[in-house]
Amino acid sequence: MSDKSQFLSYGRHFVDADDRKAVDTVLRGDWLTQGDTIARFEATLAEAVGAKYAVAVSNGTAGLHLACLAAGLDKNDRSLTSALTFVASANAGLYCAAQSDVGDIDPQTLCLSADAVKSAVAKHANTKVIIPVHFAGLSADVKAIRAAAPDALIVEDACHALGGQDADGNNVGSCAYSDMVVFSFHPVKPITTAEGGAITTNDKGLYQKLMKLRSHGIERDVPQLMEPDQGMDGGECAPWYYEQQMLGFNYRLTDIQAALGLSQLSKLDRFTQRRREIVKRYDQAFADVNYIKTAQNLPHQRSSSAHHLYLGLFDYMALGLTRTQVMQRLRKRNIGTQVHYIPVYRQPYHKQRLGDVADQFPNTEEYYAQALSLPIFPNMSDDDVERVITAVKELVRQA
Ligand SMILES: Cc1ncc(COP(=O)(O)O)c(C=O)c1O
Repeated sequence: MSDKSQFLSYGRHFVDADDRKAVDTVLRGDWLTQGDTIARFEATLAEAVGAKYAVAVSNGTAGLHLACLAAGLDKNDRSLTSALTFVASANAGLYCAAQSDVGDIDPQTLCLSADAVKSAVAKHANTKVIIPVHFAGLSADVKAIRAAAPDALIVEDACHALGGQDADGNNVGSCAYSDMVVFSFHPVKPITTAEGGAITTNDKGLYQKLMKLRSHGIERDVPQLMEPDQGMDGGECAPWYYEQQMLGFNYRLTDIQAALGLSQLSKLDRFTQRRREIVKRYDQAFADVNYIKTAQNLPHQRSSSAHHLYLGLFDYMALGLTRTQVMQRLRKRNIGTQVHYIPVYRQPYHKQRLGDVADQFPNTEEYYAQALSLPIFPNMSDDDVERVITAVKELVRQA
């Protein structure tokens, strides 16, 4: 039986004894940060997704920032991301002093549409970086976006999508059609390191730049030095010598977090599998319930999504309830829900720079009016899932 006094959040982490042991081992060792656990985490992540390189960073936002910097985005350029995303995807371009645009979504995938990319590129030839977001874990059509903007660099925001595959079966993170892919390991995400993130790439030049930018712009590798003569000491490069070659940041992950990440990665397949089972059960239960639909119903892609979120589309008018009342009624039964997301252009900060443009985003607006995310996380029991289904069905019955 599901424990009704237990709050079911829309998402949550799963951390077990193995994870705690892995962290404890690092805590008892010599290196809390800048040790070899980070490199092991990076190699394991790169292998898991099928990319050549992975660079671990302090969070997904830092990953997006560094990816845009490594792409060379600056004040003369523009970036473009989905209107339906967490604000970090749009802020990344602004951190580089570029203009940051948002495009409408494809109503089927709820991800940035290739048509929106095509028009943005036609309007602004200086659109240098495109940031498609794999919304709720379902892969955006990066192949079509690449075709729509062949001259742009593509940075996938895969903060929701570790463990998923695209429509062609490529692992998200493999950079099959993109230059870089950014992940987040925030607790509600597919795996967690508490705060944390990573960037994958197949491009050695981008990798070297990302590594430098992550740590103050500092280079220690002798063949990469700009002024090796300055570091020469008795015919060899001094072991203490390093160079700051560009303006970077301290966006490093710690070894403590990397140990947790490694342990979590070993469970990723299990986590993804469980999320897919939960989605199957919800989909089946809501299939013939009035006033509630599920989003992203393309069968092929639905089965390969990482399912970070379970997105319900509610007809609040027909239910005779506001979205807030629906949330409150479910909250009384200890069921948490959330709206993902308020469109970027509706945020006061972004409205100031973009103007009042909601009417230019019909697909995002239509989704936003109905959206409500229901609980999904790997250690939700079958009874927990049934508890949510029963509560939602009762709402509809009372309509
Ligand atoms: C789509 C998306 N991009 C970027 C981020 C930022 O990730 P982080 O919280 O690790 O900085 C998030 C986090 O919620 C996100 O959902």
